[in-house]
Amino acid sequence: MTAVPLDSFRAELERLRADAESALSAATDDTAIEVARVEFLGARSGRLKAIQKSLGGLAGADKPAGGKQFNEAKNAITASFEAARNRVLSSSGLQSESAIDVTLPGSPVRLGHLHPLTRTIRRVQEIMGRLGFESVDGPEVEDQWHNFEALAIPAEHPARDPLDNFYLAVARGADPLLLRSQTSTVQIRVMENRDPPLRIVSLGRVYRPDTADATHYPMFHQVEGLLVEPGITMAHLKSVLRLFASSFLGGDVHVRFRPSFFPFTEPSVEVDMEWGGRWVEMGGAGMVDPAVLEAVGYDPDTVSGFAFGLGVERIAARRYGVDDIRDFYRNDVRFLRQF
Ligand code: DAH
Repeated sequence: MTAVPLDSFRAELERLRADAESALSAATDDTAIEVARVEFLGARSGRLKAIQKSLGGLAGADKPAGGKQFNEAKNAITASFEAARNRVLSSSGLQSESAIDVTLPGSPVRLGHLHPLTRTIRRVQEIMGRLGFESVDGPEVEDQWHNFEALAIPAEHPARDPLDNFYLAVARGADPLLLRSQTSTVQIRVMENRDPPLRIVSLGRVYRPDTADATHYPMFHQVEGLLVEPGITMAHLKSVLRLFASSFLGGDVHVRFRPSFFPFTEPSVEVDMEWGGRWVEMGGAGMVDPAVLEAVGYDPDTVSGFAFGLGVERIAARRYGVDDIRDFYRNDVRFLRQF
């Protein structure tokens, strides 16, 4: 048997390629494309398959070149076929690459949510709002008057120690500002600008140079509450705190006062809350000291008031069962996702 000459093999391939191209470019619908596919690329009786068989008839030395030519032709026809199919699909309104199957389930949109501390702050504002307390803000950079002096914390008081506060550098001789160490500053700012009766809460950041551990952080949040009007007593203070605690934690919570001292309240107490069998200290409270009322121009003989300051991280940790407050600031989504 004489070998098939390489030239005629190539001519055969070329013809096939031209035929395929013209059939595919003339095709305007799925059916025509399918007919062309079977004719040229069909696995059993397609014309390409037939030529592939004739590869065996080439002379041994021609086989590598023939095989290469065959592959080129096959790739070219396959590419023309894909192009024709895309053309028909896009003209029928469907893009093969980005076809949208409207019957598939949608991909879920991942929604974020509020940080647990923000949620706690909003919840406190909501509960206290229902008790008639308006939510107000104060600056985080404060002067000595609002952070200390008006709150009856005199110059020599250890709470003013530079080691316990973030003082800001200022011109020599000027009274240094500081990052507020407590939200009690807002009591003063509000009383200076308004007359009693007053019911406010203020929630925000405070700063102290503490080493971070499970219960301390150089920045944390406080809730400050203040109520001033004629005839206010410790009984009102305790009722408000108990109402707050049972709304925030649950009906079975207990509130306990322990005698304490704060320069701006007299008498002063530590506020503990018991919930789920454990007492936790939540902050301080007391009756606004007459010296503070005088400092803002109120008459201590006609009005009295109570104030309290609670740690937002503490009540959030208690509420959500968090045992290390640093977790609130790590921004680890595995932690945050749980709320
Ligand atoms: N400002 C106090 C602190 O940071 C907490 C506090 C105690 C606030 C007694 C008050 C209060 O309003 O009456 O430790």
